[in-house]
Amino acid sequence: MKHASMNKKVILEAKGLTKTYGHVTALNKADIKLYKGEILAIIGDNGAGKSTLIKALSGALVPDSGVIFLDGKKVHFKNPSQARARGIETVYQDLAVAPALNIADNLFLGREILRPNFLGKIFRLRHTAAMLHQAKQHMEELKIGIQSMRQEVSTLSGGQRQAVAVCRSAAFARHLIIMDEPTAALGVKESSLVLELIRKIKSRGLSIIVISHNMPQVFAIADRIHIQRLGQREAVINPKHYSMSDAVAIMTGSKKAHTQAA
Ligand SMILES: Nc1ncnc2c1ncn2[C@@H]1O[C@H](COP(=O)(O)OP(=O)(O)OP(=O)(O)O)[C@@H](O)[C@H]1O
Ligand SMILES: [Mg+2]
Repeated sequence: MKHASMNKKVILEAKGLTKTYGHVTALNKADIKLYKGEILAIIGDNGAGKSTLIKALSGALVPDSGVIFLDGKKVHFKNPSQARARGIETVYQDLAVAPALNIADNLFLGREILRPNFLGKIFRLRHTAAMLHQAKQHMEELKIGIQSMRQEVSTLSGGQRQAVAVCRSAAFARHLIIMDEPTAALGVKESSLVLELIRKIKSRGLSIIVISHNMPQVFAIADRIHIQRLGQREAVINPKHYSMSDAVAIMTGSKKAHTQAA
């Protein structure tokens, strides 16, 4: 069957990723494919290997075997900063933001803008004004309604904090953003804020991988759904062609997918 995604550019592809922890096989020759400008949701039961899969893509772990191609070129990320340097940003559910810092400092955490001081280029100072200004621009671009970039993140609501983490990833990602359950701890209003941000990021041409257990959210946002089961990619489905209960049945192994959106 001809699928619209056949005409699209593959931005990230991994084949045969395997990762074992002692006797536990977290990933068992897992594949994943992501097209430019799409939202790919990953669903699967607890322990299916979703987090391990995205950790392999974001450099948070090195798989035992398998290959990863970014933009057609083979990559071997040894740590998350190598993946970030290649335009892959990851939003983890916990540790998404540093609560004791303000919004601008969170946005530039680990990537502070520096300016030379009177001793020259070696002893550089943090360029606070530039960071506050750029932080405001990034937040406005994604239409996040937070007034002051000096506000400490600990005083923000859960949804606003998550929005800051998503905004940070959007500000620095050049290729794709990976999110592990970005709305798991959020209420209805905050979740829709984060979902709205994900759509805006997509509209800028970036690709997004999002892990979620929330079927209505997955079906509302995903272009394709990667179903992970027992450490492997069981199927990739088009949410327009499947019901939520079918997706869950494939996830738990009680049903096979009749068409693939791979
Ligand atoms: N650091 C680790 N040490 C040992 N086992 C691990 C480690 N990380 C993951 N595992 C195991 O690998 C398997 C896959 O874990 P993973 O975290 O990828 O699952 P998941 O699909 O993200 O599950 P969940 O939906 O619960 O987040 C599980 O059996 C888990 O116990
Ligand atoms: Mg997980």
